[in-house]
Amino acid sequence: MSIARVGIVGSGIMGSGIAETAAVSGFEVVLRSRSQATADATLAALEKSLNRQVEKGKRTEEERDGALSRVTATSELSALRDVDLVIESVVEDLAVKKELFNELDRITDDRAILATNTSTLPVVELAMQTGRPDKVCGVHFFNPAPVMALVELVRPITASDETMAATRQFAEACGKSPVEVKDQAGFIVNALLFPYLNNAVRLYEQGVASIEDIDTAMKGGCGFPMGPFALLDLVGLDTSLAILDALYAEFRDPNYAAVPLLRRMVAAELLGRKSGQGFLDYTKR
Ligand code: 3HC
Repeated sequence: MSIARVGIVGSGIMGSGIAETAAVSGFEVVLRSRSQATADATLAALEKSLNRQVEKGKRTEEERDGALSRVTATSELSALRDVDLVIESVVEDLAVKKELFNELDRITDDRAILATNTSTLPVVELAMQTGRPDKVCGVHFFNPAPVMALVELVRPITASDETMAATRQFAEACGKSPVEVKDQAGFIVNALLFPYLNNAVRLYEQGVASIEDIDTAMKGGCGFPMGPFALLDLVGLDTSLAILDALYAEFRDPNYAAVPLLRRMVAAELLGRKSGQGFLDYTKR
């Protein structure tokens, strides 16, 4: 099947980044947010991001206008009735996602693929909420979605070859390099990345080095574009904690057991960039 119209549910960092990526790649995008106010705010942020790219000479005004004309922002789930692919990108909560897949199955055309951008939750459980488990898979983008080259295509045991081929075609049309991975918590990237991020917090908690020095060390010593604390703040400490908890729940591996400081910071609502303060302070930048 070919994909032309894409529905995105959730307008957080990932949902809006995926919407931008799909729209600039020529797809019609219906972005569904919980309220019309957040839908409008996401559209305004998308315009700002595209304007910045025009100013930098990365895009023409025509490309910007074309991308914007392809995006509709709405609070109505029923607006997804005619899409070919839905990418769900709401909170990492299995109960919330299950209910949403149930609704999406009722609302969308039977031939539509229903995908999730989850980074750790079992895709098969979402598939089994629908009457089309063969058409459900994971399409996992990375933050920031318009920039990062990778998409993990997550294959639950229920998905058909056609579903995986169509989502691969979509990811490639978005200019991404897809890899296929089994439906197991953390897939490839987060299974390897999060023990590293968690151990960086442990090192700091043990007083081995400062946040700034650990970040400087990993950038200078390993050539990483960001240090672990800048990356935790970019991903969001609440999302990072949810990922570690899901990895620990699946494997019971102590490497995945969240360091207490991370949990305390989330309790204190120090969530990273999105709250203005995480391991680093963004209020003065
Ligand atoms: N939207 C669109 N474009 C963006 C952007 C965004 N949100 N953020 C940055 N960019 C663009 C900039 O415009 C710039 O483009 P240009 O070079 O053509 O002008 C380019 O990206 C580089 O940005 P900056 O010059 O502002 O800053 P940096 O050179 O420091 O790059 C970065 C920023 C791309 C975020 C880089 O630091 C990086 O690659 N960091 C690592 C990010 C990473 O590891 N992400 C994965 C996280 S794990 C994950 O997502 C999984 C999930 O499940 C948790």
